[in-house]
Amino acid sequence: MNFTGAHILSISQFQRHDVEQIFSVADQMEPYALRKRVTRVLEGAILGNMFFEASTRTRVSFGSAFNLLGGEVRETAGFESSALVKGESLQDTARVLSGFSDVICMRHPQQGSVADFAAASRVPVMNGGDGANEHPTQALLDLYTIARELQAKGRTIDGLRIAMIGDLRHGRTVHSLSKLLSLFSNIQVTLISPKELALPDAIIDEMRAAGVTVSVSDELNNSIANVDIVYSTRIQEERFTSKAEADLYRGKFRLNQAIYTQYCEPNTVIMHPLPRDSRSDANELDCDLDNNPNLAIFRQTDNGLLIRMALFALVLDVVDKVDQFAHDVRWYNSRQQ
Ligand code: CP
Repeated sequence: MNFTGAHILSISQFQRHDVEQIFSVADQMEPYALRKRVTRVLEGAILGNMFFEASTRTRVSFGSAFNLLGGEVRETAGFESSALVKGESLQDTARVLSGFSDVICMRHPQQGSVADFAAASRVPVMNGGDGANEHPTQALLDLYTIARELQAKGRTIDGLRIAMIGDLRHGRTVHSLSKLLSLFSNIQVTLISPKELALPDAIIDEMRAAGVTVSVSDELNNSIANVDIVYSTRIQEERFTSKAEADLYRGKFRLNQAIYTQYCEPNTVIMHPLPRDSRSDANELDCDLDNNPNLAIFRQTDNGLLIRMALFALVLDVVDKVDQFAHDVRWYNSRQQ
């Protein structure tokens, strides 16, 4: 695809070579993310960071990625602080904000809302999560993390065996990751969820049509025995009609060190898009895994910066200029000590 000026709305818009191009540019961003170098390549550019649903890492990661390339960030967080509460349409909001910004990142609770917004925007729009539909940049950072974890073992994404666990019905990260895995070869996916929270049939059909081997289970322990990656997810309480309904499923698939040691192959990589729900009735990824070197959850969040920097550089067509507008850091850098 031609990235210049493109919206980033769905994994469906990518071919495998597009994903490989993003990963290659992400590698190039590492000295800047690690504060070994500073670039001002996006000096003067403005990111409109519009988050109409709760977020910590996606919102701050998009903003930090833009800052690390030298650009400025303007934010709206929540409906209450925007004119949407006065009845303004998403389309009018897009027409206005695209006059202020060079690129817009957006999260919104309604499926398809970010695409509707993008259709009225005069600048590229990136989907930071639209309801239970998609979260394409999360899937890209997840797969980039998988590639790096496998590379350390002399492996590639082709041939991957992954178990995805939890609320697969509402989890937009697994929807996007499933589509992304379909671009690679010899992939085996095990879907572990309560039957009511199964991955939508359309996504399973799409994976199978692409040659992915898909198996389905509602039991955790034996289903995580022969995989390279366990990808745990949170019960998406905000997508249920009530907390009581979400409570029916919370805490059903808890992974802790004892289960990991008993059932997983040695060095199985543990991932989660975060936030993990650490409340005692959920605790899907126990804190007793925090010292397990195979826990990759904070490598995922670090890699998110690289992926989002790469997407900004590609969409705003500055990949070849990033190093040209760079200099060494001037401040104490604790990351390098
Ligand atoms: N993974 C993710 O989307 O996290 P936030 O909700 O904190 O952005």
